[in-house]
Amino acid sequence: MDTNTQRLLHTFSALADLGQEISDTNDFEEMLRNSFHLLLGSLAIRRGAVTEYDREAGTLRLIASRGFGESTNDALELPADHARELASFGSTMTLDGATRRAQRFLEDHKALASIEIDLLLPLVVRERLIGIVLLGEKASAEKYTDEDLEVLSALARHIGVGIHSHRLLEEVEHKAIENQRLYDGLRKIYKETVQAFAAAIDIKDRYTQGHSVRVGKYSEIIAREMGWSDEEVEGITIAGYLHDIGKLIVDLSVINSPERFSAKDSKEMSRHPSAGYEILARINHPYAEIPLMARYHHERIDGNGYPDGLKGDQIPPGAKIVTLADSFDAMTTDRPYRKKLPLEDVLEDFRANTGTQFDPAVVCAFCRAFLNEIEGRKEKRLLNLLKKNYDEVESVTPLLNQLISDFDGASLTATAH
Ligand SMILES: [Fe+2]
Repeated sequence: MDTNTQRLLHTFSALADLGQEISDTNDFEEMLRNSFHLLLGSLAIRRGAVTEYDREAGTLRLIASRGFGESTNDALELPADHARELASFGSTMTLDGATRRAQRFLEDHKALASIEIDLLLPLVVRERLIGIVLLGEKASAEKYTDEDLEVLSALARHIGVGIHSHRLLEEVEHKAIENQRLYDGLRKIYKETVQAFAAAIDIKDRYTQGHSVRVGKYSEIIAREMGWSDEEVEGITIAGYLHDIGKLIVDLSVINSPERFSAKDSKEMSRHPSAGYEILARINHPYAEIPLMARYHHERIDGNGYPDGLKGDQIPPGAKIVTLADSFDAMTTDRPYRKKLPLEDVLEDFRANTGTQFDPAVVCAFCRAFLNEIEGRKEKRLLNLLKKNYDEVESVTPLLNQLISDFDGASLTATAH
């Protein structure tokens, strides 16, 4: 086998190794260093360096080098017009022949001249300079042949494309992170706006301070217990916060009346779910069901609720959850016309009205969540909301167990979809 064939074979294997190197290594700089050493090894070159061009800074940054000592450590300046010139030149620049262009380049870059390089390989991708490979003489001190230059150009193309793809990927990742941050910011603003609304609703209704926020939290706890996804849980929490938003346009004297409602007042008050729907339907929510959850939070599964008299499965699952959360908070807080009920009575009310007013699966999930907190299996969220009004909650454990066994496995009409 003659030397040329041997060299050719060696080059092929170097290229194959390089491809492997690029696909195997996760550490980009290490991949580049290895590729570069393969390149030096393929032609037994003693000294060389790979630099990356930073377009914004107008400098060449050293990524890997061998045999240059400290002399190439500083970033080399490379003005934009020089970079463009190099990119347009495209291929390998032999410096020993000192073409005019190369000569001028070296005059402009004394630092390069001082490290005695024989070859400049501009790394160009899509007509843009990505970096430069600088090479010193071969170990044999022979001149570079045309064939050598071809080999080097092929290897350098690999390195250039490697750097370019890596930076593109980094840019995409960076943009994705930035977008995520913007999106998170918007979500935060949305949530804060919703909470501000909830506070506004509750201020209007001075007997039910904090009601909307608590209903949001109870709804969240129930939905979580029912295995809803994070996104759905977030949606129903917001629906809970906003379920009474329609009260903002109901006559204030009706809401704050210390008496039970008269028939006329009841009629005025019963406008609030549809009024809420009208308000919420105009907003583009991240969770499409929110307006419907507000509209149907006074429906009953026996069809005797309002505003539309929907039955069973016609009522969106989210609305059924908000209904129970709403009733639970109403019964566990003082109202103008009655005091809060003992917890046993609240649960008895649930038992009596499950299947007519409430969905069994929702009642069951609520009781499971409640019991899990009492028995320490879950973080005390529901209990923390209750402790302001109740000194003791453990005594309802038997009742909770009873309700769970009554309604467990009930037709699960209240699933997310
Ligand atoms: Fe309501």
